Order: sequence, then C-alpha cells, then structure tokens
Amino acid sequence: MVKLLSSGALLASLCRAAAAANSPCLVTTVSKQQSCPALLVVRMVHSKCRGETYKYGKDEVARLPVPEESVPWSVEWPDYAPQDFTAPFVQGKEWADPELGDNFAPQWNTLDNSINRASHEGPYQVEGGKPLNIRGRTGLAGRGVLGKWGPNHAADPIVTRWQREEDGQVVSDPETGKQVLEFVAIQRKDTGAWAIPGGMVDPGEKVSVTVKREFMEEALDSTGAAKENVENLTAMVDKFFEGGEEVYRGYVDDPRNTDNSWMETVAFNFHDPSGQEVGQLPLQAGDDAGAIQWMPLNKEVILYASHKDFVEKVVEKLEAHW
Ligand code: BGC
Repeated sequence: MVKLLSSGALLASLCRAAAAANSPCLVTTVSKQQSCPALLVVRMVHSKCRGETYKYGKDEVARLPVPEESVPWSVEWPDYAPQDFTAPFVQGKEWADPELGDNFAPQWNTLDNSINRASHEGPYQVEGGKPLNIRGRTGLAGRGVLGKWGPNHAADPIVTRWQREEDGQVVSDPETGKQVLEFVAIQRKDTGAWAIPGGMVDPGEKVSVTVKREFMEEALDSTGAAKENVENLTAMVDKFFEGGEEVYRGYVDDPRNTDNSWMETVAFNFHDPSGQEVGQLPLQAGDDAGAIQWMPLNKEVILYASHKDFVEKVVEKLEAHW
C-alpha cells in the first residue's frame, strides 16, 4: 500500500520517524511514490541541487550526475567520487567554518557552542569526519558557497494578504472561485530569482528573532535607507508578527546544497486578513534584495529553491486560489 501525502508537517514527521527507526526508506517527491516494506513513506528527493553545474558568482563547477535512484546514501555506489569544491571566498569569513581538521572538530547533530549543527529532520550520518547531506547525494563534495558544514539554518517570513480591487473588494479567481492570496516577495541579488525575504539564523539566535530581523532588513531596508526609523519599524513588525504560524520546518532543495553542506529553514506565515495592518508596512527592498513586490499566488509562480512548496502550504491553510 502506498500513501499519498501532501502535508509538509506529516512528511517531516515521517522523515523523523524513518530516521529514528533507521529505516532504509528515504523520502522522495510525491510524484514518485514507492512502496517500502518497513514504513510507507512518500519519497522527496532533492532536484534543484542536482543540476548539471554548481553556479557561484559568474563561475560554475560541474556536478557529477546523480540519478534519482542513487540519491540515497544507502544505495551502494563504490565509485562515487564527486569533485570537492568550496568557493574561495568562503575561506576565512567570520560567518563560515574553517576547514575540518585537528584544530576544528565540531560536534555534529547537536548544538555546538552557539552553532546549531542539528538537522530539523533527525540525525545525519558523518563519514570520514564529514557530515553527509541528510537527503542524499548531490554530485558535489565540499561546502560550495555555504559557510557551515552540515545544516545551514535559515528562517523565512511568508507575509500574506488578500489581493483587492481598488474599491477594497477581495479578488477571486474566475475559474476556482477562490480568493487570491498575495505575499511579500523579494528578488534575490545573487540569482535574480524571486523568493521569500528570509535569511540565515545568526549563532545563538532564535528563529523567531531571525524571521523578524530578516524581514526588516530585506523588505523594509532597516539597515539601509530606513536606518533612522528602526525603532518604529521594530514596533510595527513586533506587533504584526505576533500572530505568526509555523508552516514548514526542514530541508530546503536549494541549488547551493552539496554532499556536506545544505540549507534548512523554518517558515512562518504572518497573515493580515483585513489588509489594513500590512498596508502600514513601508516595503522597501534592502540588503540582499534587488526588488520587492506583493506577488499574487497561483501554481504557475516560479520561486527560488523550494520556496514554492512553502507558500503552497499557506495557500492550503487559508484555502486560497492556487
Ligand atoms: C534565504 C532563505 C532560504 C534559504 C534556503 C537563504 O539564503 O535567505 O530565504 O529559505 O536560503 O534556500
């Protein structure tokens, strides 16, 4: 029997259960269901981090092609020898780990001083002193452009309101008859892709703090032009973000992932049903954002990494048009 699951929370708990039970089953995409003797788990294999090349700045490095069935580390591949690549600009950065060795031997799968090296998805394996990507092979070893070995933690604020006509009437889609939801999207400067205005969790920082700080930096430009107004912005964001709801916690299918470093996030939804509160937010692209917009949501949207999956969870929760 194969079960079809679409809920991320369910999926995440199944992932944790599979990991805890040391089950041979991995999680792969909903479209590729497989039966598993131990646990019936819908598999979710990363794909955006298995492209032909690994792009960084204007350069790129070849990834070893990894067929979907060989993604799990449990699948034998004795000759698997991907290129080892860590971008030169990562070395020596204060946000990055040093090279692994005698002088640097972090504690895996736990809080290591103030750095969270635990995965949201359960324990990951460590081989030859290096953490192995919790979702499997990516065709590239090393850290790529990521700073941390193992999980690199981010937090994502999904700020939503209903799309409205000028007279205040909520827009409904003519085909589905459902109300259209909009979210605050920023255009990333690194890839040009539209994305949730999230960012990396600082050492020792709570995700609930990161999510507000990043929204202020990326969507309100609190460290740029709006610097003078930080107190007001903080008060506004504190108030609006009071009612946040977690919609996803786990792995991100991010093009920057490698065999030894990967992105994870916690995504929260902050919804303003009246549209009055977010109307007060002085949206302004800042920091790593090139542009900003209220993006209407539907199944055609193209977003960075697996951000589309996260916004879809909000759409489902609010029973909006998709
Ligand atoms: C972004 C987050 C994103 C994470 C994983 C970070 O660079 O700021 O929005 O979820 O990467 O892709």
